[in-house]
Amino acid sequence: MFYVSCEVDVQKSIILVIATRNKGKTAEIKRLLKNYPVEIKDLDDFGPIPQIKETGQTFDDNAYKKASFTARVLGLPALADDSGLLVEALNGAPGVYSGRYAGEAATDEERCLKLLNEMAGKSDRRAAFECVVSIAVPSGPALTYEARCEGLITEAPSGLGGFGYDPIFFYPPHKKTFAELTIQEKNRISHRGKAFAEIKDEFDRILIWIRQHMSIPEKVK
Ligand code: IMP
Repeated sequence: MFYVSCEVDVQKSIILVIATRNKGKTAEIKRLLKNYPVEIKDLDDFGPIPQIKETGQTFDDNAYKKASFTARVLGLPALADDSGLLVEALNGAPGVYSGRYAGEAATDEERCLKLLNEMAGKSDRRAAFECVVSIAVPSGPALTYEARCEGLITEAPSGLGGFGYDPIFFYPPHKKTFAELTIQEKNRISHRGKAFAEIKDEFDRILIWIRQHMSIPEKVK
């Protein structure tokens, strides 16, 4: 039995589903990829979809699980990201638990305070944010993009911008915490900003890869 791939139509716009219900994230990705022949959708554009639990041990696991599950359920290429903070003196914690470090219902402020308590008396303040982005097709294969931003955990929160651990993450080259940077400054140097900048730069090739992996095999014999 022989199969041959269908011809790939390079002009046709493709749909890419962002595995999120966060409108800010969708809007940001739309802006980033506005010059490419891609129609960005997110989970709110479809009916109810079972929620996938982020049970992976790495950002990579979680990003891939979210992207491939969404791609399989919807039959469309999907993009998902996962990120968090790794602190040297805490052996990489909170890591994949960054979002629920102080319990599911805790606020960003409570998470920051818990981390500062854990760090009391520790002189090694090194930490890094990491981000992994996975772009998957329904048949399973995926592309992975990773980026990292290194900094130091402060002794106390400072700054009002950003979210999450931004007020306690000091970025030495700018001599400011992430919460003291403008959004534009943060996007240029952050883990997420760098991962998405690489995706933007490579998006022509990513589109070719998606088209090749979405083309339906044609049975010829
Ligand atoms: P997510 O995978 O992007 O949802 O990130 C998981 C958690 O990591 C967030 O809830 C935050 O606590 C933390 N986090 C990720 N990125 C950042 C950031 O840029 N600044 C501060 N905290 C972050």
